[in-house]
Amino acid sequence: MHTDKNIIYQNFKINKIDRNKENGHNSLVVWFTGLSGSGKSTIANALQNKLFTDKIHCFTLDGDNTRLGINSDLDFTDLGKKENIRRVAEICKLMNDAGIVVIASFISPFVEDRMQAKAIIGPENFIEVFVDCPIEVCESRDVKGLYAKARNNEIKNFTGISSPFEVPLHPEIHVKSNLQSIEDCVKQIDQLLKEKLKLNEL
Ligand code: ADX
Repeated sequence: MHTDKNIIYQNFKINKIDRNKENGHNSLVVWFTGLSGSGKSTIANALQNKLFTDKIHCFTLDGDNTRLGINSDLDFTDLGKKENIRRVAEICKLMNDAGIVVIASFISPFVEDRMQAKAIIGPENFIEVFVDCPIEVCESRDVKGLYAKARNNEIKNFTGISSPFEVPLHPEIHVKSNLQSIEDCVKQIDQLLKEKLKLNEL
């Protein structure tokens, strides 16, 4: 971590509170964690559609996309995954400060890294959603063909196969994507979210 004593945080006149008032809702992060192929992106996409229709300022950050851009220098070692999550958590925080509700969709396999993300973002602004799906189901779907490659040893450190996924212990929301419909998952998340957003109460 950077500990330069010569860098002093700058406060600006217009802050998060002003932006939240202007938007008519709080800004927070809905953090999806789950295996590759568990349905994170699909549910994130449907949730974003719902929020956008409801005139909520929102944006989705997705692991594949950020790894093609800002995190293209990172690999899938434990350290690479850790730094990936740290950086996206910092981006989430900035977007929250800008008044935006962030849907963050990352495998984020390690409890410690998710805890760090929560600490960076602020615990009151962090809603952890466990997109639960048995690995056998994810592997049988194998939408991107990556599980087959991982089994074949063509991909190293593949989460669930050659690298662990640590199940969240106390997620705010637990959806089971192999048992529930997408609509059902979205409804469950949207309900809690709408309470926390304090729509037009600010
Ligand atoms: S994380 O583990 O660092 O949180 P992230 O969500 O950013 O992962 O990216 C995951 C995506 O990268 C997967 O959906 C998959 O398409 C791709 N990927 C490529 N290699 C790996 C790997 N070794 N482990 C997991 N996902 C991988």
